[in-house]
Amino acid sequence: MSRSERKIDHIRHALGHEREFHNHFDDVQIVHQSLAELDFHQISIASQVGELNLSSPLFVNAMTGGGGRETERINRELAVVAKQAGISMAVGSQMSALKNPEERRTYEVVREENPEGILFANVGSEATPDQAVEAVRMLGANALQIHINTLQELIMPEGDRDFTKRSVNIKRILERSPVPVIVKEVGYGMSKETVDKLYDMGVRYIDVGGRGGTNFSKVENMRRERPFASFNNWGIPTPSSILENAARYSDLHLFASGGIRNGLDGSKALVLGAQAFGMAGALLKVLVEEGPDNLLSAVDHIHQEVKMAMMLLNCTKTQELKGKPYVLYGQTKDWYDQRNP
Ligand code: FNR
Repeated sequence: MSRSERKIDHIRHALGHEREFHNHFDDVQIVHQSLAELDFHQISIASQVGELNLSSPLFVNAMTGGGGRETERINRELAVVAKQAGISMAVGSQMSALKNPEERRTYEVVREENPEGILFANVGSEATPDQAVEAVRMLGANALQIHINTLQELIMPEGDRDFTKRSVNIKRILERSPVPVIVKEVGYGMSKETVDKLYDMGVRYIDVGGRGGTNFSKVENMRRERPFASFNNWGIPTPSSILENAARYSDLHLFASGGIRNGLDGSKALVLGAQAFGMAGALLKVLVEEGPDNLLSAVDHIHQEVKMAMMLLNCTKTQELKGKPYVLYGQTKDWYDQRNP
């Protein structure tokens, strides 16, 4: 199967696979505070994440490009909505365009549609520094995501098997990148041990990319004759991954993603310690099933939900959400008790 056919398969299976019955954001309850004393209009969702000035804590996380016209159309429509809603956007892995220039269009369209927007380029950790810099140039990107996805590769029959150069590569890309580098998972979460290693390499931006939403074990297993179903629930749920890392380093910038369904889940991510939150599968579903106008109104709804949570907690700025009182239940509490003593 060609790389571009695989991109279309990913979209189909990402939309079609069954989500986990339990979403771990339901284990997190923000403690209600009765005495709100703000005017709703005072509330600003503008968010600073390190060097990045975002107009919203919500961003469209990496999904597609590299699969010909269909992925070009999806990226165009996502870019138009991102521009109208004032949210930042990542593109899917650009490795295909770095190998096949015909696919460049499927990514470049995002900058064409949104000349002033905040855009994240995306490459795998196997990219050379030259390829990483070229991916940034292709988009005129404001940041670069490096995705790490070991389990996805292992389940993919045609996936990578040799990761021996990963750390060296990441370090070399960090040295050369003209923009902030975000190392991200793709739905398996990041442990504190992983983040410690990345921090020592010089990484200062992490997207925990936790378990709970799009599940790449299931997506890749749907493409296999004999699935590795035993790995379908592998990974660290997003709230646990945020909690493992939020208080670790004062100069580490944390993006949360994986299984965020709405603005309240996003607000919980910010309360637990993330500075911004990404959504991929849930936004793609609205776009594909209901069209760009409905996606725009869904994003507006998410913004309203974030502002409502901020109002209830008396916050005029998103960064004030961090550390507001919350209670943990169930598996997330068990994880916290054993891993954050
Ligand atoms: C993805 N994701 C992804 N991530 C990445 O870094 N590079 C990529 O090329 C892709 N491709 C991709 C395709 C499709 C169709 C989906 C839905 C997702 C992963 C994505 O950015 C995110 O980390 C996970 O999907 C978890 O977030 P959600 O979907 O649960 O909100």
